[in-house]
Amino acid sequence: MTMTMTRGEHERVAVPDGAREVAILAAREAGAILRGKLDQPREIRFKGEIDLVTDADRAAEAVIVARVRTAFPDHRLIGEEGSRGDPGQAGSPWGWVIDPLDGTTNYAHRYPHFAVSLGLEHGGTPVLGVVYDPMRDELFVGEAGGGATLNGAPIRVSAEADLTRALLATGFSYDPALREEAEVIWRELLFRAQGVRRDGSAALDLCWVAAGRLDGFYERPLQPWDMGGSVIVTEAGGTIGRFDGTPFDPYGGEVIATNGHIHEALAAIVVRQGLDHSTR
Ligand code: IPD
Ligand code: CA
Ligand code: CA
Repeated sequence: MTMTMTRGEHERVAVPDGAREVAILAAREAGAILRGKLDQPREIRFKGEIDLVTDADRAAEAVIVARVRTAFPDHRLIGEEGSRGDPGQAGSPWGWVIDPLDGTTNYAHRYPHFAVSLGLEHGGTPVLGVVYDPMRDELFVGEAGGGATLNGAPIRVSAEADLTRALLATGFSYDPALREEAEVIWRELLFRAQGVRRDGSAALDLCWVAAGRLDGFYERPLQPWDMGGSVIVTEAGGTIGRFDGTPFDPYGGEVIATNGHIHEALAAIVVRQGLDHSTR
């Protein structure tokens, strides 16, 4: 039996006044920076062997963090490029996870598929997700108990119940040592699903499940800031959980997100192959 999260299972906590608006404004501002710098000469640095950071990541994070800190000085905050809240905020129940540029490798190659991602959790429960795709001008928002939207219009996961007709997405770790598990799962799904995409933005993978463009997405390891949009999936009627079927944890480092109908079938493959081949 899997233990996952679907709409309505979130703790009912009202999102602080203004949080949605601040997150949307910050995501749009950051997105404009990314769009503006895409064709300019850019400074690219390697954080790891293949893990990049550009001047655009840092500029986008700065504008987001300034907005969030000004509006919510007491909240916890982590940004991928190093921003952290003050130690005095550690006791706050509210925490922001910020990815100023999800899809940096795409961005560095001018492959126009990347996003800005912000999430807000309360005591570890995701309550708000805002993901902005600046190249398509698509803004995804999900608020616990308030539904999920794309550019203001409600979105809903797909109805596909047959894994053999399902379009899936995944991603591969920057750490080559962790790729064996991904390869084994991918190989099985090549024969069991209609298709598996690897498009380089976990934030958009989640939103595209929510919008019914994808039927499922799985990946590990992921960082908390990659999954700020998790509530967009659940509010669109989808299901999310961990590889072993336990409930989703925004700091848990992994996700299976589906339309709900294919969840058991996909999780069975991911769990079986994952546990057998994990090198973590
Ligand atoms: C990455 C993207 C990618 C996923 C990686 C992430 P970044 O984020 O979401 O799709 O496969 O695991 O780290 O580094 O571009 O922000
Ligand atoms: Ca990311
Ligand atoms: Ca990033």
